[in-house]
Amino acid sequence: MDSTEIRRRVLELEPWVNGFEFDGVVYAGESKLDYVLRQDPDERARRFFQAFPDAQRILELGALEGADTLALSRRPGTRVLALEGRVENLRRAELVLEVHGATNAEMRLADVETLDLAELGHFDAVLCAGLLYHVQEPWTLLGNIARVSDNLYLSTHYWGTAEGLARLDGFVVKPVREEHPEPQARGLSVDVRWLDRESLMKALADAGFVHVEVLHERTSPEVCDIVAVCRKS
Ligand SMILES: C[S@@+](CC[C@H](N)C(=O)[O-])C[C@H]1O[C@@H](n2cnc3c(N)ncnc32)[C@H](O)[C@@H]1O
Repeated sequence: MDSTEIRRRVLELEPWVNGFEFDGVVYAGESKLDYVLRQDPDERARRFFQAFPDAQRILELGALEGADTLALSRRPGTRVLALEGRVENLRRAELVLEVHGATNAEMRLADVETLDLAELGHFDAVLCAGLLYHVQEPWTLLGNIARVSDNLYLSTHYWGTAEGLARLDGFVVKPVREEHPEPQARGLSVDVRWLDRESLMKALADAGFVHVEVLHERTSPEVCDIVAVCRKS
């Protein structure tokens, strides 16, 4: 596909959230909305494969425009299945993969809150980034992930204080109304729940991810970030 054709296809799929670069040309860069990738996809993929060097069959959840999908698929021998809940994001991700000739990556439209991941088979590792805090029952999603893989690379927010929070199903939760500044990056559910740190660790352990290696953490009284490599054994 030449750059004129790429530009035409990119325009058809406006508005983009992040855009992408191919062959030295930035596409849809000017249409960047309020959401920018928090972590460079190549750096995230590097850390992912540092944690799971033998991972070949990979499941990605909440792929947005396929930036991480592409970075993961660049590793020879991998096969990436990426799920995305919004069809507009899915179409843009498909174009990004097509332009780059990433034939070892597949995008699929799916709601991870309702899909039984076990229908998809077994995976060497799962990437769940920027998604766990967009669902109503993060503990259910972690249990769902654990049914298809022993290895999880998790990047998420949690709530910084346990005070004044609700209790549900044995977890301490902060009810949150989805107000992400970028609508295309929001959860599919309007009312979601954030775990506090203790409950996040409990949900991981309940799911079977008993070994949690924290790669990065930023704490605050409210919104906290954590990146963790989670293993069953
Ligand atoms: C905050 S973005 C994170 C994108 C990317 N994973 C990253 O870390 O930069 C959340 C993405 O998950 C998708 N998403 C939200 N809820 C979902 C659900 N229930 N099922 C599938 N995808 C969902 C959104 O459409 C969006 O593309």
